[in-house]
Formats: sequence, C-alpha cells, structure tokens
Amino acid sequence: MSSRVPVLLKHHTYEIIVGHGTLERAGEFVSRILSSPRCALITDENVANHYLEIVQGSLEAAGFDVTPISIPPGEASKSFAAAEQICETMAAEGLDRGSFVVALGGGVVGDLAGFVAAIYYRGIRCVQIPTTVMAQVDSSIGGKTGINLRAGKNLIGAFHQPLVVITDPGVLVTLPKREFNEGVAEMIKHAVIRDPEMLDELEAFSGADLSSLVGRNVQIKARIVAEDEYETLGIRSLLNFGHTIGHAVETVAGYGHYLHGEAISLGLVAALALSVKQAGLDPAAAERVTEILHSFELPTVLPGHIGTEEVMAVLKRDKKFEAGAIRFVLCDKLGSAFVSKDITEDDLRQAVEDLRHSPRFSAPSPERPEQSASSALPAA
Ligand SMILES: NC(=O)c1ccc[n+]([C@@H]2O[C@H](COP(=O)([O-])OP(=O)(O)OC[C@H]3O[C@@H](n4cnc5c(N)ncnc54)[C@H](O)[C@@H]3O)[C@@H](O)[C@H]2O)c1
Ligand SMILES: [Zn+2]
Repeated sequence: MSSRVPVLLKHHTYEIIVGHGTLERAGEFVSRILSSPRCALITDENVANHYLEIVQGSLEAAGFDVTPISIPPGEASKSFAAAEQICETMAAEGLDRGSFVVALGGGVVGDLAGFVAAIYYRGIRCVQIPTTVMAQVDSSIGGKTGINLRAGKNLIGAFHQPLVVITDPGVLVTLPKREFNEGVAEMIKHAVIRDPEMLDELEAFSGADLSSLVGRNVQIKARIVAEDEYETLGIRSLLNFGHTIGHAVETVAGYGHYLHGEAISLGLVAALALSVKQAGLDPAAAERVTEILHSFELPTVLPGHIGTEEVMAVLKRDKKFEAGAIRFVLCDKLGSAFVSKDITEDDLRQAVEDLRHSPRFSAPSPERPEQSASSALPAA
C-alpha cells in the first residue's frame, strides 16, 4: 500500500509516493508522468549493490532506455569533478534536453544528481528515489540541490524541484545502524518544531516498521516547503532548529568524525537549552527530547577535543551577527518554533560550553529572569 503526499508549490505541484514496494514499481509511477524515453539512473556503489537492478529493471520494463551511472559513496562525491564526469557521460550517451535524471540513493546522490539535473541542458527533469532515512524525510523534499567547495559544504547549488519522489521505507533495512539513527535526528527535529505527538511514536519505536514515521515526516517537510518554497518567509528556516550550532560542530569536528545527524543531535540539545532559558520551554520537555536522542544512540555531550572558540569562530564566519545578536530558531513549547533575533554571541558560547556536561535543563529562576546563560545547564 502506498500513500501520496502532495507538495503544493506556486508554479508546480508534485507528489511523494510513500510505501513498501514502491521501489519495484518505480517504472510504473514514472511512466504515468513522463513520456520521454531516456534517463540517467544515478546512484552510488553501495546503493547500486542492493537496488540498482530492481530500479533499472522496473524502468526498463516500463519502456525507458536507462543509462546507469554509479559514483563512489560519500560526501567527497558532491564535487564539481563528479558533476562534470556525470554530465560528460550523459552527453556521450546521447542524453539530451528531453531526457531525465533518476537519483537513487541518500542525500549525497540526491544533491549531486539533482544538481546535474538542474544544470544539464540548463535543466532537465528529475525523479528522486531516496534510500536513507535522512533523504526520505528531509533532503529529497524541497528541491535544494548542491555540491561542496573546499570553502564549505553546499556552497554551490540550485533549487530544482523533482517531478516525483518515490519513497520506499523497505530499503531502510539495509542501511547501517549509524546512518539509520542519524536520520532519526531530523525526525526528532520535526517533532519538536511541528508534531509533538510524534515523540510518543519515537519513544515507542521498536525497530519494526518505519512506514508510518516516514510518512508523517514527509508530510511535515512537504507542508513547510509548500508554505515557504524559497526560504524567504521565515517558515522554512524553522527547519534549521538545532542546525546553527550543529553545523559548526560538524565543521570543527572535521570530515568523517560526526555524521550530519549526529552533529545535529548536539545542536538540538544546545537549542533546547537555549529555548528553556530564552523562550520559556518546559525543562521537562527538553529533558524528554534529549532522552529520545540518547535512545537512538545520538550524541548529547560535546567531547573535550572540540574547542569552544573553534566552534565560535565557525559560527562567526557563517552567521551574521547584527548588533551583537543573530537569528536563531527557538522552541517555546513542543510543536512550536520561532526565529529569535535575541541570541547573542555570549549566549552561543555558553550553550557550547554547557554542551560538555550531561544535559540537565533548568529554567531561569523567576527572581532573575534575565539571568546569564551559565545557569541553564549546571555542570555535572
Ligand atoms: N538538499 C537538502 O535539502 C539536504 C538536506 C539535508 C542534508 N542534505 C545532504 O545530504 C547528504 C547526506 O545524506 P545521507 O545522510 O543520506 O548520506 P549518504 O547519501 O552519504 O548515505 C549514507 C551512506 O549510506 C549508504 N546507503 C544509502 N542508502 C542505503 C541503503 N538503503 N542501504 C544501504 N546503504 C545505503 C550510502 O552509500 C552511504 O554510504 C549531505 O551531503 C547533506 O548536505 C541535503
Ligand atoms: Zn539536517
């Protein structure tokens, strides 16, 4: 059984088809909306081992002429060199403006293949088939595509919405546990900013069927994207909850240390602590979310070798401080988030410092509501 989640954009609406067995039916779904005969099926070597044959077979059975292109797995493939190589292969194989791209893989493949689709012949159509939790609930939805520069991740890219997204939670059984858990960090983020009841479902999760959780998260992301396609209205920015400090930690830790979702787990704990202090979030709520992160083996304590000033240096480079404060997403109660302009450099520094101890959240004392950040997470 599959469900369909629409992404209702101003100029273009598309569907995310979610359900077990949708991978085998990819050709059928694509043939309903695309009549062009040729496509490049872009994937990485890990995903190819498990799923290339199934998807290629399904597309061919539906009458498509498929050029499979497999890239080495990993973030390093999100490069100009890889994008160029793929474009050269597509050109050599005679794919043209009428052809389309199918991105089969995690966020790396989705971002790279989506970017190729955005620039090849000034833009050709694209189908996303995400195969990691992260890609299914986050990166395949919303049209952000991109590659990395030495100067930073995702600095080159384009908005390029797919024609359809085919999301089969059944493929997650082959995903390594660490990659599985990092994707759950984005689900926990969605619960905090939009869907607090989902926390019950995450607490009860037994490792069995993920379909309902994936479907629920797809809906949340699809709605937020539809409300603010180009991230200009402050709604899509709410998805950055936990990402300001999380990204900085990810950068300082260095490539390969934390998976994205693991760094975001740390960023979420810091953002929850700031929310308790500055937005009136119930400390018990912050505690509860942290417990859930912990139960998925996600880090909640910053190790000593990641220096506070190094994290601050990245934050200052990436974020614009205006009059000493930056825009930072806070949560006032579970299911509700907003962009605050009141978080100062000192608040951030203290939040990073506090992350070094086992989190224990406490609200500012009523007599001193403006109390300094240092009291929120007392040293263990
Ligand atoms: N475009 C966006 O909006 C957006 C949002 C968030 C993250 N991202 C990007 O996503 C990327 C990370 O994506 P990711 O976390 O999916 O990592 P990934 O694509 O690197 O996949 C993780 C690993 O799992 C393997 N894999 C994928 N699916 C598998 C499966 N079903 N079975 C077995 N192995 C499988 C991959 O080969 C890889 O080794 C980053 O580059 C990040 O910048 C983009
Ligand atoms: Zn993220």
